[in-house]
Amino acid sequence: MTTVRINASDAVSIETSALIIAVHTTPEGPRPAPGGEGLDQALDGRLAEILTTMGFTGKAEEVVKFPTLGALPAPVAVAVGLGDAPEDGYDLETLRRAAGAAVRSLPGTASAALALPARTAAEAEAVALGGLLGAYDFTRYRTGGDRKPPVGELAVLSGAAGAEEAVARAATLADAVTLVRDLVNTPPSDLWPARFAEIAQETGGEAGLSVEVLDEVRLKEDGYGGIVGVGQGSVNPPRLVRVAYSHPEASRKVAFVGKGITFDSGGLSLKPSASMDWMKSDMGGAGAVFGALVAIARLGLRVNAVGYLCLAENMPSGSAQRPSDVLHTYSGKTVEVLDTDAEGRLVLIDGIARATEDKPDVIIDVATLTGAQIVALGWRTAGVMANDDALREEIVRIAGEQGEGAWGMPLPAELRKGLDSAVADIANLQPERWGSMLAAGIFLREFVPEGVRWAHVDMAGPAFNKGEPHGYTPKGGTGALTRTLVAVAERYAGNGTSAQAV
Ligand code: BES
Ligand code: MN
Ligand code: ZN
Repeated sequence: MTTVRINASDAVSIETSALIIAVHTTPEGPRPAPGGEGLDQALDGRLAEILTTMGFTGKAEEVVKFPTLGALPAPVAVAVGLGDAPEDGYDLETLRRAAGAAVRSLPGTASAALALPARTAAEAEAVALGGLLGAYDFTRYRTGGDRKPPVGELAVLSGAAGAEEAVARAATLADAVTLVRDLVNTPPSDLWPARFAEIAQETGGEAGLSVEVLDEVRLKEDGYGGIVGVGQGSVNPPRLVRVAYSHPEASRKVAFVGKGITFDSGGLSLKPSASMDWMKSDMGGAGAVFGALVAIARLGLRVNAVGYLCLAENMPSGSAQRPSDVLHTYSGKTVEVLDTDAEGRLVLIDGIARATEDKPDVIIDVATLTGAQIVALGWRTAGVMANDDALREEIVRIAGEQGEGAWGMPLPAELRKGLDSAVADIANLQPERWGSMLAAGIFLREFVPEGVRWAHVDMAGPAFNKGEPHGYTPKGGTGALTRTLVAVAERYAGNGTSAQAV
């Protein structure tokens, strides 16, 4: 586990294995950003010459390493690009990504000092967070080989007021995201619903959350037909986990509901193999909800927060639900299951219906819900839908501030008709594939009672990085939306960027 601390010493005197500085592109060539000037002086003003010789221009996330040959205690220098110098203030996401990319280039290094722009507490936090998230590696299943461990110790060079607290906050957020990435990366043979529930009890309990688990017997007794239906084909029965945090001075309550399909084979509506091999990531929503609750508790936010993890394994078998089965869901409504692969919405509606009993100010569900989200918005941008325009735009804005891509999507009324069922109150699938992300949102909205403010985040693409690492994002589980949910809670706690939460 990589650690981080603040260090107020200057870049050229710090004892470290690698000194990381940031560099801007300018018409005259690469120029050090604030924090990096000392290195240029120690190199007798030849930094630009070194960088240019290496073909380095300073564009965002470009990274180059070179030896310092005794010019300073750190034997290795790392330059990372920030692109053009900003006119006023650094974009925090640019700093996070630069720190992440630089740290990712240093496996096998004992320590590194980040001499990036950190003149404010917010900048120091961004540098620390990006560095920690970039140092992630999932090694639980490796038995040796020559893979080198991530940087052990990070120092963020900053003398800013409040930098200590800011870096501690970054560490708490990074721990939460790491927890989610580990959960997503864990193979489904080692993460089934009851195991996830156990982890929630252990880790959640340590963080000060109260954790309640409903097993398959209780779920059946209490009428959670959606979760039971999806989970009944698996030898690993479903769970509904409620994690709750409260603050004595809180005046508002947020509820988060996460899709937690520990593996989505599609069920009897079986997926083709190529769509299945990464479906261990189908619990990314529940992961984000759990990680966010853990961080909210550790940060001691002045808000009440409750999270529901809707956990099931979607498998085909003799006991599996069949296309055309009708489920009696917790809301009281019946659903005809036309396609067992549209299972996420079935577990979510039970979680949403249960969450309304908590009488929260807002319900936000997060889910790897549809392939259509990826078709519409790609890998890195989640789709946000809501029954309230201001809430939707607020979530998009908050996600943007965390550097988590999100975009507002409509819930067009004309799509409701496609969900009409010949036998039940509603069907879980519309007959055509066009607009499936939106149809899924419309389906969910049917289960949100009048007067309850609700938003739905489809994060099918962002939850899992099938491509190469970039910025602070590794291959595999990303922990996406975890930090956004924490920031939403922070906003309801009244210590966000604006005074009043919508
Ligand atoms: N878990 C999938 C959605 C998904 C696809 C997540 C790709 C991440 C990457 C979901 O349960 C699913 O199978 N959705 C179907 C819905 C369809 C049957 C209406 C889909 O998107 O194809
Ligand atoms: Mn599915
Ligand atoms: Zn799914």
